[in-house]
Amino acid sequence: MRNTWKQGLESQHEEVSDERLPVEGSFPSWLDGTLVVNGPGVFEVGDRTVNHWFDALAMLRGFRIRGDAIRYTNRLVRSEDFRVASREGRVRRALPGTPASGSALRRLYLSLAGGFQDNPSIGVVRLDDSMYAVTESPIGIEIDPHTFHTVGRRDLTAGLDADATLGHTHVEEGVQWGLAPSFGRKSAYTLFRREPNEPPEALTRLRFGSHPPYVHAFALTERYAVVPEGSFGVDFGDLLRGVPWGRTFLDAFERREATPRFHVIDRETGARTAAVPTEPFFVYHFANAFEADGTIVLDCVVYGDLGAITGLTVENLRSDDPDVPRGDFVRYRLPLSGGRAERETVYPGPAEFPTINYAAVNGRRYEYAYLASIDRGSLPTAIAKVRPGTTETRRWSRFGVHPGEPLFVPDPNGDAEDDGVLLSLALDSRAERSVLFCLDAATLTERARAVLPHRLPAGFHGQFYDADDPQRLMQ
Ligand SMILES: [Fe+2]
Repeated sequence: MRNTWKQGLESQHEEVSDERLPVEGSFPSWLDGTLVVNGPGVFEVGDRTVNHWFDALAMLRGFRIRGDAIRYTNRLVRSEDFRVASREGRVRRALPGTPASGSALRRLYLSLAGGFQDNPSIGVVRLDDSMYAVTESPIGIEIDPHTFHTVGRRDLTAGLDADATLGHTHVEEGVQWGLAPSFGRKSAYTLFRREPNEPPEALTRLRFGSHPPYVHAFALTERYAVVPEGSFGVDFGDLLRGVPWGRTFLDAFERREATPRFHVIDRETGARTAAVPTEPFFVYHFANAFEADGTIVLDCVVYGDLGAITGLTVENLRSDDPDVPRGDFVRYRLPLSGGRAERETVYPGPAEFPTINYAAVNGRRYEYAYLASIDRGSLPTAIAKVRPGTTETRRWSRFGVHPGEPLFVPDPNGDAEDDGVLLSLALDSRAERSVLFCLDAATLTERARAVLPHRLPAGFHGQFYDADDPQRLMQ
């Protein structure tokens, strides 16, 4: 088998509704809820292919799971970007790596008018009893949690002085913690909290001038929020000068002059407790963070260069010999009373999509993280379970299978942190089908699989919502 990953980077236009899936093995009888995974669905707009992995039109993959009874639905998200792309064959607003269609004047107008994409391919979030597909945009696209149809839109920046909110957010017992960027010559990130059915409350505003770091996610401990100020980001002066000629966020990504740091913010007061300098870095995703002996322990997948972003072009990922950016899973220790961050590698990459038993241990001292790991090509080829602070590692892989993000779902009757299962939507390249795998999280052995009626492109992030307690967010 050669270049098996390419199947995971091709469009799927077919939509399936509420189809019962054949199951091999046995899903746990306690598993009762809805798994929703977001990610790329279609890579073409009109007669062109979008440039970057993050530009593809979003598709939701929904699974209603009750033990071995698994019903599958997939839906392309009916955003405005999707509507214009499918009806008119044009890029409505600039995507991260693909310029808006039209003349230089039109692009300039769109950038000055502050027009943002609404194609939400990063993840899903549940706020105020509604489900939204989200990305780095002011708009959340509301999704019916049963049919996965698009039913509405919501301005997620309402009540905030910001241009967008991040696709990654935290929700603890219904309370959302988020970051809201303001872009331009006076860029900033606003940390906010939002009680259910209340307007957001801005806690603090981190200001970065015209060349802010790109921030994809942040971490919470019980007391602090940790916001990464990495080494790379969009130079907005450069971007605005180039927009009329088709310059994109991706083109304007450049190394920053400022010392990279981790900002530690008190969640109660919004005060910045520390700004801990470190070596050049870039982070998409955090596994977890917690306080320990005057430091913050911070576990994440870290990259060393700009390739973390520029290496994710569709052309590179689809190529025979892709140059895949290498993210290592590392543990930082951030001293709160001065000094630089220390860093040790927990699991050498390329690896991504770190997850934990979120409901039980997010922000707290913990034992286990789960990762998707790449051995060859551009998509994951294994799932790894690691124990930061030790060399213990378990791995699961199947020939020709490309697993996606491993989402941990706890066993309600379990005691241990790893009592539960991992759900991972994978591509079985030999069968040219996607497969939902269920692994025992303690042993990393396969319990069950449900085979989909078609092949899907590789996804990004998902959530599992328990039927009895949908507010108990998993990641
Ligand atoms: Fe992400």
